[in-house]
Amino acid sequence: MHVLKYPHLTLTAAALLICSGLQAGAQVADDVVKGDAIAHGLCIGCHVVDTHSPVIRTDFVPGFPWIAHQDETTMASLAAFLAAPHGRMPNYALNPDEIRQVSAYILSMKQGLQ
Ligand code: HEC
Repeated sequence: MHVLKYPHLTLTAAALLICSGLQAGAQVADDVVKGDAIAHGLCIGCHVVDTHSPVIRTDFVPGFPWIAHQDETTMASLAAFLAAPHGRMPNYALNPDEIRQVSAYILSMKQGLQ
């Protein structure tokens, strides 16, 4: 039974895995809170930025709940969109952290709608 020779190591590894999973969850939660602030500070001038507002799709500016609800919307698609200056949107030059935070915030609305 040499597999159980170091059972404490296996337990330590399991505990580490669980902890890193929890940290990833906490990181996302933290991103959502910061992204909420970015959206309400910078994006609210044009976009519907939260689920308290009606989910509408205007001809001009898609609302964040609507964006979150599109199948093709992912962290990667949002990051790509926000990293480049775009159409009629001001170029905020968000840094990678801010892009991740506001993208996490937008995607957090997916659950609220289902
Ligand atoms: C001055 C108005 C304006 C502001 C401010 C603005 N946007 Fe936009 N946004 C638009 C318009 C208009 C579009 C539609 C696409 C286009 O015309 O380029 C758009 C499109 C988008 C899309 C793509 C939607 C789709 O159809 O997939 C995302 C994501 C987005 N904006 C995120 C943001 C974020 C995040 C912020 C704040 C950091 C922000 N926008 C601030 C006007 C704005």
